[in-house]
Amino acid sequence: MTIQIVNTTPFDGQKPGTSGLRKKVTVFQQAHYLENFVQSIFNSLQDFQGKTLVVGGDGRFYNKTAIQTILKMAAANGFGQVLVGQNGILSTPAASTIIRKYQAFGGIILSASHNPGGQDGDFGIKYNIGNGGPAPEKVTEAIYTHTTEIKAYKIVEAADIDLSQQGEYQLANMQVKVIDSVADYADLMQELFDFEAIKSMLDAGFNMRFDAMHAVTGPYAKDILINRLGAHPDTVMNGEPLEDFGKGHPDPNQAHAKDLIEELEKPGMSFGAASDGDGDRNMIMGRRFFVTPSDSLAVIAANAHLIPGYKQGLAGIARSMPTSKAPDHVAARLGIDCFETPTGWKFFGNLLDAGKATLCGEESFGTGSNHVREKDGLWAVLFWLNILAVRKQPVEMIMREHWQTYGRNFYSRHDYEGVDKEGATELMDHLRQQFNSLQGQTFGHYTVNLADDFSYNDPVDGSCSHKQGIRIGFDEHEARIIFRLSGTGTVGATLRVYLEKYEPDPSKHEQDTQQALADLIDLAEQIAQIKQFTGRDKASVIT
Ligand code: G1P
Ligand code: ZN
Repeated sequence: MTIQIVNTTPFDGQKPGTSGLRKKVTVFQQAHYLENFVQSIFNSLQDFQGKTLVVGGDGRFYNKTAIQTILKMAAANGFGQVLVGQNGILSTPAASTIIRKYQAFGGIILSASHNPGGQDGDFGIKYNIGNGGPAPEKVTEAIYTHTTEIKAYKIVEAADIDLSQQGEYQLANMQVKVIDSVADYADLMQELFDFEAIKSMLDAGFNMRFDAMHAVTGPYAKDILINRLGAHPDTVMNGEPLEDFGKGHPDPNQAHAKDLIEELEKPGMSFGAASDGDGDRNMIMGRRFFVTPSDSLAVIAANAHLIPGYKQGLAGIARSMPTSKAPDHVAARLGIDCFETPTGWKFFGNLLDAGKATLCGEESFGTGSNHVREKDGLWAVLFWLNILAVRKQPVEMIMREHWQTYGRNFYSRHDYEGVDKEGATELMDHLRQQFNSLQGQTFGHYTVNLADDFSYNDPVDGSCSHKQGIRIGFDEHEARIIFRLSGTGTVGATLRVYLEKYEPDPSKHEQDTQQALADLIDLAEQIAQIKQFTGRDKASVIT
């Protein structure tokens, strides 16, 4: 097999966003586009000769084609071994598990997460470092710099590897090991949670549904929930991974997981959950009861002592800045730190590695812990099931008791998707111009005590990240409005408006969230002039 050196020229815009490089499939299908990015990853790494790389993806359209290219490029660049999931499948948390378990040098994950798939959908690629987590900014910036300078890439000329069978194959001087996509991950889950207790609860007639949304978690959920925990075969819905996710939008929220919500209307249902395209997000529901991801992190933290893998206690909690402060109230009671990081899982890695945080989460349906370095959808589902098995109460009761103890953080995110990029940028600039005048200003019941761009100083490596979202804070009810532009979209811009208000009084916990936040929603419009800058008079998705 010969190594080819292929001349190429840079493509514009190969800058990794919140979570890797995401573009339309058609963009990735351009000659040299994927190759340029993969070679730029390798060019930004050192001392990987002879070492192990993990490769896998969420099974979306173009996954298998991309993997064959990556294998041939990894061989040409001198990796010693690649571990690849059977049929090219690895959920993002499973990839993180495997990188850690086999002490790989790093991994390449192919996914555009919850973005729609198929020929006209999105594709994505990201690099994870040896701790199993997304590459930190200094690595993603180095990759980007290489994409702007690239002149050639290396690839071996060889036939495709058969990914449908587990086994070992030789590709030039590199070994390719096609591995079971599920087993290592499922084993890890079994170490962390009390499977016996969950099994007994299921045996006793506990009725639940898990919606895999025709994305990557189907095989994982079937093995864990049905084979290992004995749940009824109907438990896993949409469990067949499809290249276009059955034309669905595999984002586990109330807007997109419609099948699940319908199913939970059936008599006797106690619990529902869903996961996204690559298996790192989760949604938790009780009977006709939705748990916000921020509340879910808070409940998980408050009940961690009940779970085998966490009963030794929590070192700390970390949440992204726009995530509600519900976990902060739990951390305060536990006497542990609650770190506030910018949006994106890559900012949790250092805190987890340094033993400063055990649990972390984002409002965007992401929850996880130090067991891997990615957020983990099924892990969150199992955590809840384990809590339910021990506490023997419905989800809603657990949540209400939690609010009684800690107070309730009413929370919602309003997304304005696919708006004009220029208008969205002007809206953000217009907000920045008001920072000084907003300070101390009173709007109805609210007085502004904070108006700034969030900056993060990483307490572990001292790195600084600026402009990580605009924060407007108020004296009353710990209220906040946050404005950010999405870093994962592929069309135009997406404005995210995050709204939060703390209510300690249990007699006020019954309100509807949007009603409880109505005055802040009006205030967001008044301050940011969303209608004027985006031409939209209402959000496209509310979670
Ligand atoms: C979104 C979420 C963010 C999450 C990321 C990857 O990023 O808001 O919390 O880490 O997807 O799943 P955004 O589009 O807001 O940049
Ligand atoms: Zn995802």
